[in-house]
Amino acid sequence: MTHPIGIFDSGIGGTSIFKEIHALLPQEHTIYLADSKNAPYGSKSKDEIIALSIKNTELLLDKNCKLIVVACNTATTNAIQVLRDTYDVPFIGIEPAIKPAALNTQTKTIGILATKGTLSSELFHKTTDLYSNGIKVIEQVGEGIVPLIEDGKVESNEMKALLETYMQPMLEANIDYLVLGCTHYPYLIPLLLEILPKHVKIIDSGLAVAKQTKAILEFHNLLNLSTKTPQNIFFSNGDVTILNAILDDIHDVKSLDF
Ligand code: DGL
Repeated sequence: MTHPIGIFDSGIGGTSIFKEIHALLPQEHTIYLADSKNAPYGSKSKDEIIALSIKNTELLLDKNCKLIVVACNTATTNAIQVLRDTYDVPFIGIEPAIKPAALNTQTKTIGILATKGTLSSELFHKTTDLYSNGIKVIEQVGEGIVPLIEDGKVESNEMKALLETYMQPMLEANIDYLVLGCTHYPYLIPLLLEILPKHVKIIDSGLAVAKQTKAILEFHNLLNLSTKTPQNIFFSNGDVTILNAILDDIHDVKSLDF
């Protein structure tokens, strides 16, 4: 089916998921919504996150999307059940990769960096309880990180200082896995590699989401089998310069008020 895959996030972070999906499914048309105007979602109430997720979903459905990727841990953990109960298209969500970290840790201690909205959600607690038996999970709210990324300050001194503060209690507790529980955070990996000792492994869920997207498209017979060059379109209600920069200026980015 030639209809596009819809992807949304509170801003530019979900482009880390778009990149994984595009690498795995290069023949698919995609439409990405960066709701930067309303970022960060992480400090909003569950009801507000649900309302924003519905707004984004309806816009993507108006554009004929055949499947929607909620490329935001905060929106997934707070709103995906409502979305699945309300709309007929398949939804793919993203959750912090607690399971592989908990299965592989040698120090029996893992760190998770995510938004307040994700860490306080019921779904996050359910997943953590399921996999973290006998494992110490050090949770850290990444307060302030998303606004800095949305401002294009990924590699700033301010960001480095913030990350050093957030990593300190995890390192004191002897973590050997750091789970990135927000789709904005993969862009911090170069800085985190400077801060963390070599034995600490960083994991995120981007590739898993792309694989799941492919599996669900196959299952519903929705893959695009056309050989025409597909379109990857990005709509932002914020600063398109920053979105363009994070996409290396190679995609079609448009301003849209939504
Ligand atoms: N990318 C969103 C996530 O994965 C960021 C949340 C926010 O806007 O605070 O949680």
